[in-house]
Amino acid sequence: MEEECSGECLCARSTEDASPTAISMAKVTIIGATGNVGMFAAHTVSEIPYVSEMLLIGRPGREDFLRGCCHDLSDSFAARGTHARLSYSTRLADAENSDIVICTAGIPRKPDQDRNELAFENAKIVAEIAGAIGRCSPDTILFMVTNPVDVMTAVALKHSGLQPRQVFGLGTHLDSMRLKSLIARYFRVHVSEVHTRIIGEHGESMVPLWSATTIGGIQIRNLPTFSGLPTQDMIDAVRTSGQTIIRDKGSTIYGPGEAIATLVRTILGDENRILTVSSYITSEIHGIGDVCIGVPARLNRNGVFPVPIWLRDDEVIGFQDSVKKIRAITTDVLERLEETRLEKSG
Ligand code: 2OP
Repeated sequence: MEEECSGECLCARSTEDASPTAISMAKVTIIGATGNVGMFAAHTVSEIPYVSEMLLIGRPGREDFLRGCCHDLSDSFAARGTHARLSYSTRLADAENSDIVICTAGIPRKPDQDRNELAFENAKIVAEIAGAIGRCSPDTILFMVTNPVDVMTAVALKHSGLQPRQVFGLGTHLDSMRLKSLIARYFRVHVSEVHTRIIGEHGESMVPLWSATTIGGIQIRNLPTFSGLPTQDMIDAVRTSGQTIIRDKGSTIYGPGEAIATLVRTILGDENRILTVSSYITSEIHGIGDVCIGVPARLNRNGVFPVPIWLRDDEVIGFQDSVKKIRAITTDVLERLEETRLEKSG
């Protein structure tokens, strides 16, 4: 008999748990599909066995490019045994009845530009997209990739009218992947032996959770070699990873593209994995709330559910600083959007 759990423990069955039915096939829409990340995400997401239909959406005038993307991508299907039905559009309303909508649309970062410098310009784009998706696909899960992703997740949540469980951002999942790779290389172990998390801003104020880092299931602090680990160099390398790649090759593609597919597969497969994504918190982490930011969350077919956790004192301080920064930018952007809306409505 399944052991009864308190409401707090992770295994508690609650409204968060999708009903234990067979995994149904899904329609996934990618908005911003003509951009570098959107194009590669189309490739990685189309490989997910639960995806029966994928719609690529781009700006009006990009019809030929979108048609070429569908044609080129479908040529790869024979090699991979993929069978997703591909289509393209420049109308947001065609995203109707999507199970997941991935938004990569927006102005990309230039070399040496901070993600937050894009905040208001991209917020205007995201607010329009989120409003349209909330109207045409009210049951969807809206997955934000556009940067600064924590702020864009908040803008999408507010302007879509969807529930918090339905809106999340790529957030620090990608940063956690980057740190995982660095740790695996340092200890010369298979990357799957490393589990780690970075929470907070997908940006400068991100916070590594060394307290939640294990190698082969062993707490990293219980490894004698931990004392020699260049932790600050590692987190600095993760912080600057996106910028370094943009400077070298113009944009990051493979990292975000694979990170997107992992999260889509986890949701569509109703896997209930706990990954670190940008999500709206109320009080799950030491009572901190009212912000969208990178936190451990349970992902399943019903959406994204932040997981209550306790942090070490130094981690709480770092997280509080990160929340303060992101909350301030989010508040400013939402206020400027409202001012713009009122000006337009006269
Ligand atoms: C990155 O760091 C796209 O912000 C993302 O690569």
